[in-house]
Amino acid sequence: MSLSITRFVLLALAISWMHLFTAWPLPAQEQPALSPRDKLVVETILRLKEFKLETNPVAKESVLRYLRAQAGSDQYFELIERFRPAELAEELLQFCLSHAEDSKGARGAAVLVAMGQTEQLQQLAQANDAVQAVAAVRLLGHAAGKDLPRIMVPLIISAEASTEVRSAAIIALGRSIVGQRELLTLVSKNQLDDQLKFAAANVLLSSSESTIAAEAGKYLELPATADRQPLPTIAELVQRRGSVDAGSQIFRTPGTCINCHKLQTEGREVGPDLSTIGSKLSREAMYVAILDPSSAISHNFETYAALTDEGTVITGLLISQTDDEVTIRTSEGIDKRIDRASIEEMKKQPKSLMPQDLQRLMTVQQLVDLVEYLLTLRTANSGQ
Ligand code: HEC
Repeated sequence: MSLSITRFVLLALAISWMHLFTAWPLPAQEQPALSPRDKLVVETILRLKEFKLETNPVAKESVLRYLRAQAGSDQYFELIERFRPAELAEELLQFCLSHAEDSKGARGAAVLVAMGQTEQLQQLAQANDAVQAVAAVRLLGHAAGKDLPRIMVPLIISAEASTEVRSAAIIALGRSIVGQRELLTLVSKNQLDDQLKFAAANVLLSSSESTIAAEAGKYLELPATADRQPLPTIAELVQRRGSVDAGSQIFRTPGTCINCHKLQTEGREVGPDLSTIGSKLSREAMYVAILDPSSAISHNFETYAALTDEGTVITGLLISQTDDEVTIRTSEGIDKRIDRASIEEMKKQPKSLMPQDLQRLMTVQQLVDLVEYLLTLRTANSGQ
């Protein structure tokens, strides 16, 4: 390339750059979701090793607009990891909360913690909204590192937190070996409520530290299955594969699932319709939903218990309520209408209406077959 052409190219580049980083009045109408200019600015910045976003307000505006339009993309993460723009903390938090179960949430959580948002997450973990609280606990589990015990132990032993939040806190704590030791201490001092033992057993018995697993084995065991074999940990179960056809039978007969769940037109409507459950839950989440239902109660399927003035307790799902009447659906699928005036007390229960011990109806292989089958139940457009 001759010198004059090189000069020309450099000059052209310089001009285009001036355009990028100096105020360039934009047309008055609304911004498109992702303007080509913002994209160009972002791509240029990503190629520069050193770039101070704070000293270039125009470029910064472009970056913020771009980030808002591209949440979750690779470039989004590159940019927020590098610049951590405080203006986006709230949006990043919301993004992570809705991705708490996937790797994007985990990646974003690390940035949140680096931006000093740990306390915000901790507050959410104690909030009343169970879905948000569980999501916040999961995010902390991915990012809080050495602070995990300090954050999670109080939650696990808290009398106020729900079983779901506490189970999630156990899994989060178990992400570090130090955390596993803390959990083991809670177990050995008998400070763990019974409904949390399944979650704790899964974490500790599958520890990569054989001493932790062995010590935990003195205090905890997984429940027995139909052939009296103890249940393997969920970490082991997810490695196995089963027969879809056999699983379909198990759902309908020994498993009794059909008594409470609908599949298309079959089944009873006590629990959620499972016709497309394979699109919603991962293999691991499916095992947890079946084996430890109280650790992840589906939204709108919380159990209530109503004590009437005659001293009877009616337990089930709250189907409807008016000023005069409350309808509760029992685990047999029967809707009971109760006069509100006769209710002495009505309380949300920490337990799922789904039985906690369904594994005893199945052998390990049958359980694996059942999950294999459930994973094939998908929405038409999500593929097999
Ligand atoms: C006595 C009724 C009952 C029986 C029997 C029962 N379930 Fe459930 N199930 C429920 C209820 C109620 C919920 C919602 C509360 C919860 O999430 O724990 C639920 C939730 C679920 C969920 C989570 C659904 C979601 O949308 O997240 C799955 C998966 C599930 N059940 C699978 C099964 C399987 C498989 C069986 C058979 C082995 C079974 N259930 C047996 C009542 C039941």
